[in-house]
Amino acid sequence: MGLLIKGGTVVHHDRSETADVYCASGFIHSVGVNPDVPLGTETVDAHGCLVMPGGIDPHTHMQLPFMGTVVSDDFYTGTRAALAGGTTMIIDFVIPAPRQSLMEAFSTWQEWAEKAVADYAFHVAITWWDKSVHDDMGTLVSDEGVNSFKHFMAYKNSIMATDDILVGSFNRCRELGAIPTVHAENGELVFYLQQELLAKGITGPEAHPLSRPPLVEGEAANRAIHIAGALGSPIYIVHVSTQDAVDAIAYARAHGQEVFGEVLAGHLLIDDSVYQSKDWSFAAAHVMSPPFRSKEHQQVLWNALKSGTLQTTATDHCSFCADQKAMGRDDFTKIPNGTAGVEDRMAVIWDKGVNSGQLSVNDFVAVTSTHAAQIFNIYPRKGSVSVGADADIVVWDPEATKTISATTHHQNVDFNIYEGMQVRGLPIKTISQGELVWNNGELQAPEGRGRFVRRPAYPPVYETLTKRNVLTQPEAVRRG
Ligand code: URP
Ligand code: ZN
Ligand code: ZN
Ligand code: ZN
Repeated sequence: MGLLIKGGTVVHHDRSETADVYCASGFIHSVGVNPDVPLGTETVDAHGCLVMPGGIDPHTHMQLPFMGTVVSDDFYTGTRAALAGGTTMIIDFVIPAPRQSLMEAFSTWQEWAEKAVADYAFHVAITWWDKSVHDDMGTLVSDEGVNSFKHFMAYKNSIMATDDILVGSFNRCRELGAIPTVHAENGELVFYLQQELLAKGITGPEAHPLSRPPLVEGEAANRAIHIAGALGSPIYIVHVSTQDAVDAIAYARAHGQEVFGEVLAGHLLIDDSVYQSKDWSFAAAHVMSPPFRSKEHQQVLWNALKSGTLQTTATDHCSFCADQKAMGRDDFTKIPNGTAGVEDRMAVIWDKGVNSGQLSVNDFVAVTSTHAAQIFNIYPRKGSVSVGADADIVVWDPEATKTISATTHHQNVDFNIYEGMQVRGLPIKTISQGELVWNNGELQAPEGRGRFVRRPAYPPVYETLTKRNVLTQPEAVRRG
């Protein structure tokens, strides 16, 4: 059965129009005023509302085994919460253990994700290096629809990728037409500073940001960007949290390099005062990497998003409950790193971005959906309300309000970093694959309805990059 979304304003990343949207068989069939639709078509009244592409969260960790525990949201609860928040697709991470085969890890994550209720894709992390990793990257791109690989420059003694790994993998990404992404923090410095703080007896969550000052991120962002630049590969920096990293990206872009940057809703909204709380559990609940930063850094992030230096917003949804955070009661380095938010990203960015005049409604669509689809090569199937696109749509009431709370959210975690925040502007209906899955507070999303989305190699960034790489090939000087 089809679905007609009637009377709303359709907001695209670059313009808005008054139009009805007719969805059938999971796709958008028409975008225009008063389309002909079969008798009996279910109608969604969108008068006074905005009709936008469903959100894409390009950075989540569902069911991830991490730091001695497993995150509390699995692919079912996590993607359900995403739908309740207007996000219709996530890009999660396959993270092989060092020396584990990439293909084996990939199939494990594919199994875990079978219960997803929203569409999903995977970045695959490169946590070690040898010929099998090089070859498996090729198989993942050619056979499995993976077009991006993740590198953690932090987490020494576990999944950290050293420079030799970055060089090997970025090179391979360029050969394959894939996008390398990095968690940019200097893992050696973090490790050193952690030991120093512990030795001084500073063992609580307040030590977490002290062990990861902004320059730790700036150095790694610069290093990763320079390595990518030298090898002729693009690069995408995840969870940019500091002016230091923004400056590195802006400098590289101004010098013609293909660099993308992502910012987390949490980094835009929450500042570093949380780590000073006298309540250990409250402070520990905010331990994530990179840490929350000062208000000065936050304003730089908003400006970078508005000006296009940063293109995407994500959550890094990585949910741990209080008993899991308590693993680090006596040693902050053992507090599992991560915070939740896949359900709240759209609403908090709308409230603090659009309502406050920092982002236009079109910017909002760009940074919550379209740009991620373009960068990761699933546009216009995703990130677009256009004929032929997947019918992944959010009906947004700009006047609806709610108070965010862990007691009412759908995320499977006992804490919400936005607790008590009043937001105006909410997804009142979410449509996924043409089905009304979130309807005025009711979720109807049977387990397993989510689909794996294959992402082809050679995203748009490669059009120019490949030509430049050919033209700048080194040549030997012919002598005598
Ligand atoms: O603290 C975080 N961000 N945990 C998840 C893993 C990562 O670094 O993205
Ligand atoms: Zn990270
Ligand atoms: Zn992450
Ligand atoms: Zn755009």
